[in-house]
Amino acid sequence: MNWTVEESGFDLARVTTNGNKFMIGNGYMGYRGTLEEFGKEQLVAVTLAGLYDKSGQQWREPVNAPNGLFTTLLCDGEPLTVIEQEVISHRQELDIRSALHRRETVYKRPDGGTVTYTAERFASMDNLHLMVSKLTLCTTRDCTIVIQTGIDDDVWDINGPHLNDLQKNSMDHIMISTAITGELKVPVAVAELAVFGFGEQSLDESSLLRQLTFKAQAGVTYTWYKYVSVFSGLDGTESLVNEAITTVNAAVNLGYEVLLGTHQRKWEDKWSLSDVIIKGDQEAQFALRYSIYQLLIIAPTHSERVSIPARGLSGQVYKGAVFWDTEMFMLPFFLHSDPVTARNLMMYRVHTLEGAKRKAAEYGFLGAFYAWESQDTGDDACTLFNVNDVFTGRPMRTYFRDKQVHISADVVHGIWQYVQFTGDYSLLTDGGAEVIWECAKFFYSYAYYNPVKARYEILDVTGPDEYHERVNNNAFTNALVKETLEIAIQAADYLRTNHPAAFEAMTDTFKEGPFLPEFQEMLEHFYVPQPNTENLVIEQFDRYFTLEEVALTDLKSRVLNKHEYWGGGNGLATTTTILKQADVVLMLNLFKHSFSQEVKKANWEFYEPRTEHGSSLSPCIYALVAADIGAPDWGYPYFMRTATVDLTGESKQYVGDLYIGGTHPAANGGAWMAAVLGFAGLYFNGEDVHLNPSMPKQWESVELPVVLRGGNYRLHVGREEITIQASADNKSALNFIVSGGQVEMCQPGVQLQIRYS
Ligand code: BGC
Repeated sequence: MNWTVEESGFDLARVTTNGNKFMIGNGYMGYRGTLEEFGKEQLVAVTLAGLYDKSGQQWREPVNAPNGLFTTLLCDGEPLTVIEQEVISHRQELDIRSALHRRETVYKRPDGGTVTYTAERFASMDNLHLMVSKLTLCTTRDCTIVIQTGIDDDVWDINGPHLNDLQKNSMDHIMISTAITGELKVPVAVAELAVFGFGEQSLDESSLLRQLTFKAQAGVTYTWYKYVSVFSGLDGTESLVNEAITTVNAAVNLGYEVLLGTHQRKWEDKWSLSDVIIKGDQEAQFALRYSIYQLLIIAPTHSERVSIPARGLSGQVYKGAVFWDTEMFMLPFFLHSDPVTARNLMMYRVHTLEGAKRKAAEYGFLGAFYAWESQDTGDDACTLFNVNDVFTGRPMRTYFRDKQVHISADVVHGIWQYVQFTGDYSLLTDGGAEVIWECAKFFYSYAYYNPVKARYEILDVTGPDEYHERVNNNAFTNALVKETLEIAIQAADYLRTNHPAAFEAMTDTFKEGPFLPEFQEMLEHFYVPQPNTENLVIEQFDRYFTLEEVALTDLKSRVLNKHEYWGGGNGLATTTTILKQADVVLMLNLFKHSFSQEVKKANWEFYEPRTEHGSSLSPCIYALVAADIGAPDWGYPYFMRTATVDLTGESKQYVGDLYIGGTHPAANGGAWMAAVLGFAGLYFNGEDVHLNPSMPKQWESVELPVVLRGGNYRLHVGREEITIQASADNKSALNFIVSGGQVEMCQPGVQLQIRYS
């Protein structure tokens, strides 16, 4: 089985793409797939999860820490770097089984000799503050080598600088870089120690570099190690510098191999809970595994105060902001494989409720209007002019911030998914219920009661399809608002029955209303666009059907600038039926049991040719619904497009003149959803487990572990038979229903084999 991503040869043009593709990380920090000698020009970044800073009037963004793995080499006075030197060979490799990055470069020397340089690194999954690397060098001729290594504190920033008061220190051979962020004055400390088994190193504190010069003998391999720790004021430690030094010393005492061993065992555990095995399709297998890898390296296993940004930890792109991507595209993966992290993701929304309430109040609404682009406080990082017009260079008024109200409903959807799926209702008493009710209140205040039609409507919104802003009765938004009202009532019912005292205390501040009676009344008269009686198509929003019908290829031929934005006032798509991303089809996927197969098929067929897939969130949804309607082979290309997005680097890099490159966690989560919830057909509603396989023709089987209601199961979904193995440690049984057949109860320790056709 292939677990390695690799590329041979060096291509300067691929430095940015490879920085994403070869990323490592552990949820606390991400380290881009750059090379040891690279600096900020090559976008080196040690991006810290959850630490944001604003410099001057620029956009707030995550903080990049100084790079403790920085290393340069000289051979007989000349620098050895892929950027300047001709190489005989160069290979970059990522072992996704244990998040281990390797490079091997063979340099050509003027005297005909060669220098082979290797470096291996990992961000420890055992100690999240630690990064370690092992480097080797071997020459074919004797020569003088100078190794310079230490901490590069000249970090890459998009809207920086964020590190003020940079200090360079050393103590007992450990280099220490400290700084304080500009806005919130959060300290950051990086400590580094290099261990050489040869030569004499000298430290230069003023540059944070250590230097070692030695006569390399031909044929001898020289090996050295680097131990780096990273801390910030968010970690809750008393003395950052002491902590950083202690961590480095402890790491050195254990040594590289031991640290690697523990790190690898942690990764084995991760894969044992999440690996999906596809038989019959090597390409899909690899791409799916890689997608899961990308999710595992950014998962906030350590904190419920951070969530996953739209570009993961691949840098400061998109302001490191958390979007609806997390709830709608990533949460399902974590629910099925790591419910603790799923809970962290939802608790992040509890902790940012105050920001959401501030935003609602700012716009004159009640309750909680979640940030379209959320950072640490929950205040919205999205600006009113989020895109620059490529033609005029002027900022364009966009309505992502003000009008994508569905975000509050997406948050509620996520919380309810978590509660139902895991049965862990404590999320409700830990603040989840308040979030739900505040969001329902927001929608109550946002809704418009149409006295003529005697119904509540949701006007002036932007749905997932951002090319059509400020529309009325977007089917997706209305369906989700309705769900929010239902959840608000159900959560109250649950708490009233099971935790009456807590319910009384929690609802105290809601007593003045609007609360449950108003939600109920709104629900009873709430409008959700329905399938057209003739062709079964659901209109994406009021009057969508009156827009210009134009083929996507024709619309593309009207493009004047390849980075022009298709939405907004003058956008190419605005006046047409072409949509940016799955909208109605996404709604059909979320509420798939409320619609007939005919309706889903009619809408898939109608919207598919009209969808640009201008967002990496889009193709996976078409794959999911294709599987649902029994047409997995229609969905397969969409699945592959999603699963390979960070391998090929083929995604939109600009919106207007705004760079939006980086990794795509929502697509990574979407690939998992398409494979598991789509093709393998797994559906768990909190009571029974349904399996309705609908696999692409070349797939022989899908096998995966899942955690359902705290119990561990291993599913093997073949083309004619499904095997379910329940762990003997499970506390209770679950019912399984395969392809709509009879209910089969799976007791702890039991293996069920169910044939289906
Ligand atoms: C999409 C949004 C998404 C955001 C971040 C935009 O291009 O339209 O739906 O949340 O990117 O991924």
